[in-house]
Amino acid sequence: MTTQTGGYVTDVAYVAEFYGDHAPAHLNMTAAAGGYRPRPLDGPFAWCDYGCGNGVSAILLAGCFPDAKFYGVDFLPEHIRTAETLALRGGLNNTTFICKGFADLTPADIPALDFAVMHGVLSWIDEPTRNAVLDDAAKRLKPGGLLYTGCNAMPGWAAKVPLRNMIYSLSPDSTATLERARIGLAWIKKLKDAQVKYFRDYPALAELVDNLERLDPRYMAHEYFNQHLRAFYFAELRMLMETRGLKFAGSATVFLNMVDLAVPQALYEEFRTMTSRNELEAKRDFIRNETFRRDVWIKAEPVKTEEEWLTINLPQIFGTLKPLALIEKSVAFGDVQLSYEGEPFDALMGALSRQGVSIANMDQIKGIDALSALTRVDAARLMAAGGDIVAFARETQAAKRGKKLSIPAVNRGMIKELGLKLPKVPLAAVHAGTALELPNIDAVLLLALVDKGPAGAVESAHKTLTSEAGDIIIGGKTLSKADTVTLLTQRLNTLDAVWLDKLIEVGVVSAEN
Ligand SMILES: C[S@@+](CC[C@H](N)C(=O)[O-])C[C@H]1O[C@@H](n2cnc3c(N)ncnc32)[C@H](O)[C@@H]1O
Repeated sequence: MTTQTGGYVTDVAYVAEFYGDHAPAHLNMTAAAGGYRPRPLDGPFAWCDYGCGNGVSAILLAGCFPDAKFYGVDFLPEHIRTAETLALRGGLNNTTFICKGFADLTPADIPALDFAVMHGVLSWIDEPTRNAVLDDAAKRLKPGGLLYTGCNAMPGWAAKVPLRNMIYSLSPDSTATLERARIGLAWIKKLKDAQVKYFRDYPALAELVDNLERLDPRYMAHEYFNQHLRAFYFAELRMLMETRGLKFAGSATVFLNMVDLAVPQALYEEFRTMTSRNELEAKRDFIRNETFRRDVWIKAEPVKTEEEWLTINLPQIFGTLKPLALIEKSVAFGDVQLSYEGEPFDALMGALSRQGVSIANMDQIKGIDALSALTRVDAARLMAAGGDIVAFARETQAAKRGKKLSIPAVNRGMIKELGLKLPKVPLAAVHAGTALELPNIDAVLLLALVDKGPAGAVESAHKTLTSEAGDIIIGGKTLSKADTVTLLTQRLNTLDAVWLDKLIEVGVVSAEN
């Protein structure tokens, strides 16, 4: 490993994923709830992903905001090649992917930024590289600009660090990383199965080993086999940001901003009266034994009055990326369980599952109309905490079916390029300004439905799936052609009956007459 890479693995490409919390509307919603002004999304803006991997988040967001510019930085040529291929296939002209180390970026590479994101970066690089990437983002952020960071946290990593250090030391650095991951996993599995004292003392780690076995080995390679691994206390993160002029705006995990959902009842009193958000964050990490933090930081001062707070929160728009039938009515937040049964949740859920609506305009929804503006904000955020109600960049129109379907180029490119490589394919919800995932079979069927219509979709999807992926195997059994056609027909019916209105409403596909 060379110092040029900051100790980061360079022989295995990372997995390709979309992160909803990187979407500008999600970052804005977090900032507004924390009392900071959101960035305008109705004109040009600039967004950059530091350590963008295969660039999936940048690509999908670029498809949603044609007037904005999206940048991705990553030093692995394989990642940048994938990102550029996706951009080309998606017909995008508003993305720039830069194949450079963070420390090598020049002022001309990226313009002033409204949004910067870095997920899975800060924990896995050495200190000079960490300083370089943070300096770069902090300098480029415009006044009022937002930075998202996602990194390993303490105390959740306390018992995991020795485990990872041990497996890291089992094989020399010269061994290929996937092989190191295999050797490491085999050894800790042996220790776990033998129920050695380390696992008896930290029983939760047994679950970690089981999870690692299920995960994509590329994930383990990037998580465990970088030379450096650092899990941060909140206070350390805050120092890194404050010395660069950035303030904590809130957790990107919505429910963690809500005391009643994030801490057990026995501690409500203490937490509700806590005036320092920094103290709250630090203490909550111990309550939840947090292993990963997703935070939003801002180069701005908070608003001062409750009136201003309401003014910035009322325009926030919420909607769903799932049809009503699939939305969870009861959600567990660690120690706390919340039910979304009854009013105002039923009315809100029903309305938002048809179209994205701003909090200001929720007074038009029957069942919500009598609520005060402040109560509407609380209700919307409480629902967003559950994860199925999400921040939209624009209000959407309820779906109208048409004679013909079309699909944005970005989604056609995603399905063609990644449809058979990923179990779930992320697709841009271009009206909502974010993305959703469909199982790959459904994504391939959707494209077939667009191109061939209902009568030809199954045959076309069958051809794509079998010619490119070979036989279809479910539960270890190879499906015959007749069984595959039956399966595809059933899934097409479900796609049409359950999903299609949602996909039209949020702009994954369009219906035309
Ligand atoms: C764990 S991956 C996370 C990728 C992506 N952000 C995600 O969460 O899916 C970290 C990424 O940072 C990139 N990276 C690490 N050190 C870097 C450096 N010094 N300069 C540029 N990219 C770097 C890696 O190539 C990798 O794609």
